[in-house]
Amino acid sequence: MRILITNIGELTTNAQPTVSEPAEGLEAGADICGTLHDAAVLIDGDRIAWVGAADEAPEAEEVVDARGRAVIPGFVDSHSHLVFGGDRAAEFEARMRGRKYAAGGIRSTVAATRAASDDELRARLRGFLDEMLAQGTTTVEIKSGYGLDVATEERLVRLAAEVTPEVTFLGAHVVPVEYADRGDDYVDLVTGEMLDACAPHAKWIDVFCETGAFTVPQSRRVLEAGIARGLQPRVHASQLGPGEGVQLAVELGAASIDHGTYLTDDDVTALAGSGTVLTLLPGVEFSTRQPYPDARRLIDAGVTVALACDTNPGSSFTSSMPFCIAVAVRDMRMTVAEAIHAATAGGAAALRRDDIGRIAPGMRADIVLLKAPSRVHLAYRPGVPLVDAVWKDGARVV
Ligand code: NIG
Ligand code: FE
Repeated sequence: MRILITNIGELTTNAQPTVSEPAEGLEAGADICGTLHDAAVLIDGDRIAWVGAADEAPEAEEVVDARGRAVIPGFVDSHSHLVFGGDRAAEFEARMRGRKYAAGGIRSTVAATRAASDDELRARLRGFLDEMLAQGTTTVEIKSGYGLDVATEERLVRLAAEVTPEVTFLGAHVVPVEYADRGDDYVDLVTGEMLDACAPHAKWIDVFCETGAFTVPQSRRVLEAGIARGLQPRVHASQLGPGEGVQLAVELGAASIDHGTYLTDDDVTALAGSGTVLTLLPGVEFSTRQPYPDARRLIDAGVTVALACDTNPGSSFTSSMPFCIAVAVRDMRMTVAEAIHAATAGGAAALRRDDIGRIAPGMRADIVLLKAPSRVHLAYRPGVPLVDAVWKDGARVV
């Protein structure tokens, strides 16, 4: 089945960066979004078959008239924790009254998650995915990490694998209460029996390398054990304060280090010279009242950045990529083009995927039609639902 989306006023391809038209008084700059105007996209099956000028578009069985509105690639949300029980609204409310965020809050979600049935967790997970699709997210990475025992961690990665190929084993999220003051013994469990049970369902191994969670030597053990089992590393680090997690991630060739709220100059230099993406999570700073990292400093230094929601019941309970884009533009000093690129092609890079995040022939047909004439509206109209239609693998899903 061939579907032609035509009369696209502004098409963000993320392919072949071009030079932008200069605005009055400004110099022309590189357009990292590879923007086309008056464009059309042809979908054939689950892939994009053709991209070009609307007046040169090929025939198709179905034609969608975008009526001059904007089209972007589906968002690639490369960091989420969607399989859990309970919520922590009271903790959020207390934080807004002045309490500080701490890693230990994770443990209250662990109790609720262990108590939930597979069907309860599955229904909740499906609800989050529907919510995300409606906001333009067509790929999502999902982590375990609220089980912290062998049986529950296995359930979480298994349930996540039912809905995405981007599954991350995060048994080393925090040390559970039953291992209090025995962190090394818990790492033995994570790198032994728990990894054996979870690795068959996962692509990625992750660790929360932070004061209050896991030390650098413990994190190294977790990541190296995962790598030895064929998993690829990604790391939570420098969320609550500076640390050595970024350097560890770069040394081990991690696909991404996530958070990076507190980065030293050495961290930035190491990232800029590496193949590791820095995944910024604006929802976390928003919802924990921490300072926003300066994305301008990172991008200007040559770091590849991604944007993700980090949907979880503790530090960031938004599932909205448009919201994260708006905050990144407003408070992290990203341009709109950089933020959209980071939320699509950046997320794909953070997941080491070359088949998503761009609108070009051969890519998966993951496409979003906005109820707006340009992508700028995603940041300009925060909180407004601007997604009109979504295709995932060529199928209309919204
Ligand atoms: O990515 N940093 C660690 N993990 C989550 C928070 C989990 C929680 O508070 O429940 C995060 O922010
Ligand atoms: Fe996280």
